[in-house]
Amino acid sequence: MTNLYINGEYLPLEQGRVSVEDRGFQFGDGVYEVIRVYRGKPFRLGKHLARLEQSVKGIEMALPEPLQKIEEICRTVIKGLEEATIYIQVTRGAAPRVHAFPRDIRPTLVAYARPATRPADDKAYTLKTVVDDRWGRCHLKTICLLPNILAKQKATEAGCDEGLFVRDNVVTEGATTNAFFVRGGALFTHPADHRVLNGVTRDALLELARQQGVRVRHQAVTLPEAAGSEEVFMTGTTVEIMPAISIDGKPVGNGKPGSVTLKLRAAYRELVEKECV
Ligand code: PDD
Repeated sequence: MTNLYINGEYLPLEQGRVSVEDRGFQFGDGVYEVIRVYRGKPFRLGKHLARLEQSVKGIEMALPEPLQKIEEICRTVIKGLEEATIYIQVTRGAAPRVHAFPRDIRPTLVAYARPATRPADDKAYTLKTVVDDRWGRCHLKTICLLPNILAKQKATEAGCDEGLFVRDNVVTEGATTNAFFVRGGALFTHPADHRVLNGVTRDALLELARQQGVRVRHQAVTLPEAAGSEEVFMTGTTVEIMPAISIDGKPVGNGKPGSVTLKLRAAYRELVEKECV
């Protein structure tokens, strides 16, 4: 299947080649996006591309192609796929290895799609807390993911599903997801500042919460507050709205997905049905 775009060419995925001197490979000098495709339609593609542009600007680069062209690339690589994810990566490009970057090299633009499935309806996450020692620009979706990878690995090896980042006793987000806490019936989530990624799923969820009359507080919670929440859930492109039922082995609420979580998950699925037709 020809589902890879790389610097102007469409190829089968396994034929894609990038230089060993690509700065993405050598320095993690690049940004990315992951987009979910339902029934052959990318969900909130515009929001993902706007964030891609913001990330690229944040690392002092420009997009190598206009957004309209990148949108066309996305629509091309998903041809023949109904349920899929698109991965887009833009790196600064290939150049002899020195830290300071030349301003005149051609960025590497890669986009490809892979089939995807929704997590099982009865799936719920167990969380393991991990020290959030990431840099101060977590709102940029950069490919420098070592802290996230190590957090996810730590969680996995502890028999958990997701790492929950904690910085100075405050919960920021998940290793690969945004985190939400229901306390006193209100929904708390970390403000969309430089400490977290402003998730596209997070944004959609907040819209739905408002529509459903759930009070929203853009306010971070401490770890004890998180642990004492009535409900916890995580959001992300591939996991959608994922209930979380324990933190470090201690049950959240009654240890089952809560009613606010399930109501919002149902609303999210309806939204996807409505937008991806
Ligand atoms: N991860 N926070 C972090 C650190 C993330 O890596 C992600 C997404 C999110 C959720 O963002 P969104 O709702 O836009 O997917 C929050 C992607 C899916 C990944 O790295 O695979």
